[in-house]
Amino acid sequence: MAMGELPTIRWGIIATGLISSWFVEDLVLEWQGLKVKHIIQAIGSSSLQKGQDFAAKYCPKQTPQIYDIYGKVYLDNEVDIVYIGTPHGYHYRDCMEAIAAGKNILCEKSFTLNARQAREIFDAARAKNVYVAEAMWLRHRPLYLELKRLLHEEKVIGDVFRANCDFASDIGLENLPATSRYRDLSLGAGSFLDIGVYSLTWIMLALNDRPAGQGQKPHIMAAQTHEDGIEVTTSAILQYPSTSRQGIVTTTNKSSGAPGEVFAAIHGTEGFVEVEGKAPSIPESFTVYPKQKGGSADRCFFKREMWQGQRHEYAPLGRGFVYEAQNTALDVLAGRKESSIMPWAETLYIMEIMDEIRRQGKTIYPGE
Ligand SMILES: NC(=O)c1ccc[n+]([C@@H]2O[C@H](COP(=O)([O-])OP(=O)(O)OC[C@H]3O[C@@H](n4cnc5c(N)ncnc54)[C@H](OP(=O)(O)O)[C@@H]3O)[C@@H](O)[C@H]2O)c1
Repeated sequence: MAMGELPTIRWGIIATGLISSWFVEDLVLEWQGLKVKHIIQAIGSSSLQKGQDFAAKYCPKQTPQIYDIYGKVYLDNEVDIVYIGTPHGYHYRDCMEAIAAGKNILCEKSFTLNARQAREIFDAARAKNVYVAEAMWLRHRPLYLELKRLLHEEKVIGDVFRANCDFASDIGLENLPATSRYRDLSLGAGSFLDIGVYSLTWIMLALNDRPAGQGQKPHIMAAQTHEDGIEVTTSAILQYPSTSRQGIVTTTNKSSGAPGEVFAAIHGTEGFVEVEGKAPSIPESFTVYPKQKGGSADRCFFKREMWQGQRHEYAPLGRGFVYEAQNTALDVLAGRKESSIMPWAETLYIMEIMDEIRRQGKTIYPGE
């Protein structure tokens, strides 16, 4: 279908930081398979100048209305849905204000600071009959969906019984100002909510074969390390009571993993899978290794080249947000109030697990 014939959706962008720039770059990207025309209708920023500079740089062919207060975006009748790209400590405030104005929402991860805030947002959304979804873009990516299908429908490695995922990203914490979202607890500072949520998401993919929102509560053992009151390293073991499957979730913002390396491994009774990429948020490929039949311990332990894996590669498309943007737009245009990929119950499930890991790790945010 020609671009002019596609249904349109009009976005209001809240905040002009890093993630908003990536998201808007993908909104205006033209790609094969595009089913919706995305209009950047409005941009809300703390400053008019920032908003204008953002529009000129990331959506130069569009003519959004620029507002110097987020609230004006919520009140703009020409806006169909708002994308919230503020630090996660503000997601509750920004979602509640947008809902009060009757706006549909796609809100960045971590959705909120805790499950209580998420629950209140969903209650408010239900009362106002608006769409709300957590922007967990990873779950919309073809690589993620295909791996899930291979593991749980085709059972390419038999019964999965354990998985681990590590997200290590050196953010140079010591050089950042106290006002940075990485240092300010009221903005949600800490590695776990910021990037640990990705490690957790891969573990969910591997161990949870139930539909989104119907996952079983795992037993959890967690430890967190803090520096200057900020959580910098988290390790958690999750075990599912009905299957005994185990997952290990680790994260740190003090050190980086090498790009392109394996960041997650999933083991089953008939083999294992490794997932590779720049980071757990930017997967590029996964490799399925069937179990070696009749091999000696020598072959298993010392000769990696003897393992015949099948690699599944996924070429990057934009920054990878195109799928999430399109699925969200189609949901809203169809009048749905929840995403089937990231329904409210799934966000609550993840937030409750994160609450428990933080409870054991003793990470507390202001107001908790
Ligand atoms: N999906 C992903 O891969 C991904 C990647 C990175 C981040 N994120 C999520 O996106 C959110 C934003 O992260 P980011 O990296 O884009 O942050 P960022 O670059 O610091 O930008 C945040 C923006 O929020 C606005 N803001 C309002 N009050 C603020 C305050 N007190 N301090 C800082 N900014 C404030 C600012 O925009 P204005 O001045 O224009 O109002 C700022 O530019 C976080 O929740 C993060 O977890 C997601």
